[in-house]
Amino acid sequence: MAFPTETVYGLGANALDKEAVRAVFQAKGRPADNPLIVHVASKQQCCELALNIPEKAFSLMEKFWPGPLTLILERQVIVPDVTTGGLDTVALRMPDNAIAIGLIRESGKPLAAPSANLSGKPSPTNAQHVISDLFGRIDAIIDGGTVDVGVESTVIDMTLEIPSILRPGRISQEEIEREIGSVTIGYEDEDCPDPGIIRSPGMKYRHYAPDAAVILIEGENDRVVRRIHEMLDDHSRGKIKVGLLLTDESSMVIAHEEQLSLGSKDRPEELAINLFSGLRYLDAREVDLILVDGSFSHEGIGEAVSNRIRKAAGSIIVV
Ligand code: TXA
Ligand code: MG
Repeated sequence: MAFPTETVYGLGANALDKEAVRAVFQAKGRPADNPLIVHVASKQQCCELALNIPEKAFSLMEKFWPGPLTLILERQVIVPDVTTGGLDTVALRMPDNAIAIGLIRESGKPLAAPSANLSGKPSPTNAQHVISDLFGRIDAIIDGGTVDVGVESTVIDMTLEIPSILRPGRISQEEIEREIGSVTIGYEDEDCPDPGIIRSPGMKYRHYAPDAAVILIEGENDRVVRRIHEMLDDHSRGKIKVGLLLTDESSMVIAHEEQLSLGSKDRPEELAINLFSGLRYLDAREVDLILVDGSFSHEGIGEAVSNRIRKAAGSIIVV
C-alpha cells in the first residue's frame, strides 16, 4: 500500500514479513541489494529492531523525530535479510505525517517503505505520481495530498565512530552537528568506481531520472541565463525538443515554449517541493533534453536539491 509521508510517498509493507517485502521490491522493479527504510511510530519500536544504539543516535531521535531523518543502526535478528538487502544494519525513521504514523500504529508493525515510484524514476510527491508509476502493480494508495518537503529524508550512518551522512535531505549537516558534533559526508563517494567504497547501496544506481537527458548548469544566475540562451540557439534548428527547469529569477528573462519555474533561487524549500513534479511534468511534455538552472542557494535543503539534480543529470556545466 502506498501512503504519504512528509518527504515523499512511500510504498509500505510489514518490514518483518519477507513475502510482503519481496512484493514491494517487485512492484517497484527495485534491485534486491538496495535495502529499504523501516518506518516506526515510537522509540520503543526502534529499540525492538536495532541493537547497541549509540547515545548520539538517541540525541538525534530526540531532536528530529518525528521528521525527515533516517538512522542506520545495527539490526536485531528479527529484521529479515530481504528488508536490509543482506546488510547487518537497518535504516530507521519516524515520519512526521499523521497518516503514516496512524498506519504504523493501527497495523502494529514497522513498515518497510521505499519511495513509491518505479525504480529509477523521480520520487512521488503526490498521489497522482504514484498512480502513474504503479497503477495495477499495487493494491491501494492513501491520498494525503501534496507532501511538505519534496525530497527524501537525510540518511546518516550511526554505526561509525564518526557518523556519516549518506544522503542529504531537509535536516542539514549543520543542524546535525549542532546536536552531536562532527559528522562526515559519505555521499560524495557515490560515483566512485570502486563498488567496495559505496556504503549506501542506493547511491550506486542512477536515480530520479526522467526519460529525457538532463543537463545541470551551475553558476551565477546571469551567467546561467546567458548559457541557457546560447544552448537554446544551438538547438533551435535541430529536432531536439528542449525543456527548461528554471528559477523564478531566470524564468523572468527567458521565454521558451517548454519552461517551468521551481521557485525562487533563494528559497530552496520551494525548489525541493517542486523538483520531482517538475521533472515529471517535462517528461509528460515529451521533451528530449532538460536544462536545469543550477544558480540556486545550496544552503539547508538546497544541498539535497542539488544532490538529486546531479543524480538525474548526465552532465554538469559550470559557467
Ligand atoms: O524520505 C524517505 O526516506 C522516503 C520516505 C518514503 O520515507 N523513503 C525513501 O526510501 O527514500 P528509498 O528506499 O527510496 O531510499 C532508501 C535509501 C537508499 O539510498 C538505501 O540504499 C538507503 O536508504 N539504505 C537503506 N538501508 C540502508 C542500510 N542499512 N545501510 C545503508 N543505506 C541504507
Ligand atoms: Mg527512492
